Amino acid sequence: MDSLNKADQIAESPVGILLVGGRGTRLAPLTDLAPKPMLPVGGVPFTLHQILQAKAAGIEHIVLATSYLAEVFEPFFGDGSRFGLQISYAVEKDALGTGGGIRNAAKFLAASSHAPVVIFNGDVLSAHDLTAQIQFHRARDADLTLYLTKVKDARAYGVVPTDSDLWVTDFLEKMENPITDQINAGCYVFKRSVIDQIPEGQVVSVERETFPTLLKSGRRVQGFIDGSYWRDLGTPAALIAASADLLQGVINSPATVECNSPTGVGFIDNSAIVSENSLVNEGSVVLAGAVIEDGCVISGSIVGQAAQIRAGVKIKGAFIAPGSIITPSNSIGEILGFAAK
Ligand code: GTP
Repeated sequence: MDSLNKADQIAESPVGILLVGGRGTRLAPLTDLAPKPMLPVGGVPFTLHQILQAKAAGIEHIVLATSYLAEVFEPFFGDGSRFGLQISYAVEKDALGTGGGIRNAAKFLAASSHAPVVIFNGDVLSAHDLTAQIQFHRARDADLTLYLTKVKDARAYGVVPTDSDLWVTDFLEKMENPITDQINAGCYVFKRSVIDQIPEGQVVSVERETFPTLLKSGRRVQGFIDGSYWRDLGTPAALIAASADLLQGVINSPATVECNSPTGVGFIDNSAIVSENSLVNEGSVVLAGAVIEDGCVISGSIVGQAAQIRAGVKIKGAFIAPGSIITPSNSIGEILGFAAK
């Protein structure tokens, strides 16, 4: 282990880095207007759920690793005091990839610190036990502790096999017949000295370069397997479903808005206008300034700011982009998707 003894390491609170710099191409055109981590999920910018999750696990300082539309984060989150922790902002002028982004953001953490560094992919909603993951990392003096989850069909993911003692044995790319159902769930704890070895100022992928390199060089890389709720919000369908899950209590987050729809499980912003003859249910969120006319049914959907839903429209499992106008003739019916302006 590092020169520091274990007792000293335990004394230091963990710190966090939140990766929020990606372009979010799969969520275009919504991500033309806002970066994926700032899209509303459960009625608030998604990143807020992760910040409060980090705080609940004892993290007192978190760095947002930004790049694409970097300027939108600080006006909302400020210095973090509103949320009871310190928030700093690292900006990559040109995106450095996940590994390069971590290296860049670590400059904002105390250089002398030996606190474990928790990295969050900025698009994963999970109920996993982060406190236990950090404890597991400390207890076994690991260099890297990856949160792993098991999925029914792992073909779409890189998989991470472990031995009987939970040490990672390989990182394998997507394959037709995966040898395990365990995948990297997008939250990992690093020993600080390991981050300092990532090349500085270069584009680096933590998944494709850093993790396999650590394994090859014999570092202590372990898996923390947790089967709780997990969802990667990278696609429209997943993001919309995650929002409804939060409203419906399938997963709990203190950041989620309180349901207030008189017609079902849903939230209607104070400044939105919803006809009393319309239904807002199944975990829908109607955001500021939106208007929903007579005879509409809004189920399991997100209605963006100032969107207008004309009389008689029924939508299910959709994200209506801010400012869109939806009429019965362009109604998106029961499909999952966007209705942009
Ligand atoms: P797609 O373009 O739809 O794949 O989305 P994405 O750009 O968000 O990529 P991906 O889902 O692979 O990224 C996983 C997480 O890492 C997300 O939270 C991204 O914001 C973040 N991320 C990806 N690339 C970078 C980067 O170059 N710098 C930083 N700081 N974060 C990144």
